[in-house]
Amino acid sequence: MDKTTASETRCETVAKSLLAGAVMSAGNGVTIADARRPDMPLIFVNPAFEHITGYPSREVIGRNCRFLQGRATRQRGLTTVRRALTAGRRCSVVLENFRKDGARFWNELYLAPIRDRRGNVTHFVGIQNDVTRRIEAEQAETRLRRKLRAGNRALQAANEQKNALLGMAAHDIRNPLAVIMLCVEMLTPRPGKTPDRKMQAKMLGRIKQNAQFMLQMVNDLLDVTKIDAGTLSLECAACDLRTLIRERMPMYRHSAAAKGVTVQSRCAPALPPAYADGARITQVLDNLVSNAVKFSHPRSPVTIRAQREDNALRVAVIDRGQGIPEDERQRLFEPFSRTSVRGTAGESSTGLGLAICRKIVEGHPGGRIDVESEFGKGSTFSFRLPVYRA
Ligand SMILES: Cc1cc2nc3c(=O)[nH]c(=O)nc-3n(C[C@H](O)[C@H](O)[C@H](O)COP(=O)(O)O)c2cc1C
Ligand SMILES: Nc1ncnc2c1ncn2[C@@H]1O[C@H](COP(=O)(O)OP(=O)(O)O)[C@@H](O)[C@H]1O
Ligand SMILES: [Mg+2]
Repeated sequence: MDKTTASETRCETVAKSLLAGAVMSAGNGVTIADARRPDMPLIFVNPAFEHITGYPSREVIGRNCRFLQGRATRQRGLTTVRRALTAGRRCSVVLENFRKDGARFWNELYLAPIRDRRGNVTHFVGIQNDVTRRIEAEQAETRLRRKLRAGNRALQAANEQKNALLGMAAHDIRNPLAVIMLCVEMLTPRPGKTPDRKMQAKMLGRIKQNAQFMLQMVNDLLDVTKIDAGTLSLECAACDLRTLIRERMPMYRHSAAAKGVTVQSRCAPALPPAYADGARITQVLDNLVSNAVKFSHPRSPVTIRAQREDNALRVAVIDRGQGIPEDERQRLFEPFSRTSVRGTAGESSTGLGLAICRKIVEGHPGGRIDVESEFGKGSTFSFRLPVYRA
């Protein structure tokens, strides 16, 4: 043996033992598979592999490493692995794997071929790194980001809706305000002019009418914002619907009389009490009856029915008025939705009443409001409330 060969051999010996020591004490898993044998069985795993996977080496030597995949044999990274193994190339992937105890972990696998002197692939070396913490943190971050984005979108939509509401409210308040300003202008005394009492009475009447509309509008808007902010709390208790309706009838009849519309009630006998907020349900009924009168022709009837239906109580307000075209029915319960149907005596509309009704009714457990209508024949608005249970 000449000098150089001897020193090379010594070097190799040192390097081999060092290499073995490095592999045995490495923190990453190191595995070697025999590429010449069928199905590429493992012929070596280091202690870190045993530690990461929970499998002792005697249970895995001679097996293909796919046992770590459990049921996750269709993951995308495996295509990369198969291609690299077939082509004798390196690759790096993150795979979903399972420890011996069944616990899932994320395995960052680095694969490289080992070649003989002639360049043929004889083995593959795999280096495993448990990156579960990193991947789970990334996944949590992605989830959070998605949530934030959805939250942002919802906020933006809510903001747009608020702006739209504000725009519509401002628009609706501007008209009556302009009328009031005009009336005030005409009522302002002018030097040398004697006031016309008839004109004064007319102007005052208009001011009152327009101010009333604005007051209604502002009250409705306050209700809508209260409901949207979740600050409208319902005080539910036993509520006798028969009594509630009977007490409102004189008021309904009085306001309908001006148009010659008749209002009648048909309540089933022995109705059990509803579990409801009486004052708020009165508000709902007031709006449904005022709508029925508003959109009915003179001398047509409006009927209020209350009856038991399965485990609930159903109140219906039935009119034989103008009805609502089918394509306009969906938006009825949204704020400021007014259909092409107009009040038969030129009554004003805020388009907020039904939106408030829906929120109030749906605020009750199992509460529902519905509409059935036939264009030109009439409409039935009805709502369901739960039965009171002591
Ligand atoms: C040396 C080596 C180490 C491997 N280590 C892993 C591993 O830790 N986890 C894993 O899911 N697959 C590992 N694989 C890949 C699988 O053994 C197998 O090649 C892969 O599932 C694709 O082949 P298949 O479609 O026949 O299952 C390793 C492959 C080799 C050659
Ligand atoms: N009984 C009804 N018959 C026909 N149309 C109706 C009836 N009730 C409601 N509507 C339609 O629904 C719209 C919204 O009603 P609502 O929210 O109570 O507002 P408003 O009473 O201020 O118009 C009304 O403007 C009208 O177009
Ligand atoms: Mg109304």
